[in-house]
Amino acid sequence: MGKVLDGKLLSQKLNLELKEKVLLISKKTGVKPKLAGILVGNNPASELYLNIKRRTCSEVGIDSLLVNLEKETSKETLLNEIKRFNEDNSVHGIILQLPLPKELKDSTNEFIEKISPQKDVDGLHPFNRGKLFDYKEDLVPCTPKGIISLLEHYNVEIKGKYAVIINRSNLVGKPLVFMLLKRNATVSICHTSTVNINEFIKKADLLIVAVGQPNFITKEKIKEGVVILDVGTNRVNGKTCGDVDYEGVFDKCSWITPNPGGVGPMTVSFLLQNTFYAYKNQMNL
Ligand SMILES: NC(=O)c1ccc[n+]([C@@H]2O[C@H](COP(=O)([O-])OP(=O)(O)OC[C@H]3O[C@@H](n4cnc5c(N)ncnc54)[C@H](OP(=O)(O)O)[C@@H]3O)[C@@H](O)[C@H]2O)c1
Repeated sequence: MGKVLDGKLLSQKLNLELKEKVLLISKKTGVKPKLAGILVGNNPASELYLNIKRRTCSEVGIDSLLVNLEKETSKETLLNEIKRFNEDNSVHGIILQLPLPKELKDSTNEFIEKISPQKDVDGLHPFNRGKLFDYKEDLVPCTPKGIISLLEHYNVEIKGKYAVIINRSNLVGKPLVFMLLKRNATVSICHTSTVNINEFIKKADLLIVAVGQPNFITKEKIKEGVVILDVGTNRVNGKTCGDVDYEGVFDKCSWITPNPGGVGPMTVSFLLQNTFYAYKNQMNL
């Protein structure tokens, strides 16, 4: 056993397909899709993520622009930037790179609520979150969408399976619950207050780990034949790794995402897919 859910390969395929669609439609309309990013401060990881997103945009023919506000930016200035992009018809998608600096962090939800739901390509606005509650997957967060896409592409059965998600954030765990329920999995969410977490992990058919701790999942903890999606991003000795001891668990699981090269590139792909979706809606296509 041990088969790789290759997110790098699948994302390349999806990006190529998207590139063709973008070229075709923007030739017809004379308007290219455009993504606007807002970065507050100079968190190196955030800068890196935004650069990757913008580079991939340019590879598929989506225009992008970035506003980098200084760390000491006031609430009012940030709200004005969001308003400006909401009102700019040439911008179809807006991302506010998180986390915000600590002075603004407590107001994160307030900022997100000000982004036009039609341009909310991170799928974090309450309107889009509410739709997901009704199983409508229009603009949903990109990481869960990437995870579902990987499972579906490789024909990994979701229906009837017991899925355990270790993460309860708005970005990963919470939206994934609805997406897995929609596909008839039985779902548990675990977090830092879960008692006897290893009992949940041991029973999982599908295990989604987004903790941010290297080697959080090891061979002894998992069931034979489990499918593992390793979302966590960590740096160890200058190298990127996930939350799972990949080599250790490989023979025991039936499917697994490498990390890097699994969920990460799929997340970027679905940001572009969401931007294209938002563009088509705003252009009435
Ligand atoms: N590859 C990608 O595209 C991608 C996308 C998004 C995120 N990520 C990565 O995924 C990880 C999570 O991201 P996030 O934004 O969701 O972070 P987050 O909001 O900090 O969420 C971490 C979650 O893990 C839980 N957790 C932490 N330590 C735990 C432990 N010892 N036992 C059980 N649960 C534990 C937390 O529980 P509590 O809620 O109780 O604190 C929380 O629900 C990070 O490493 C991030 O870099 C990767």
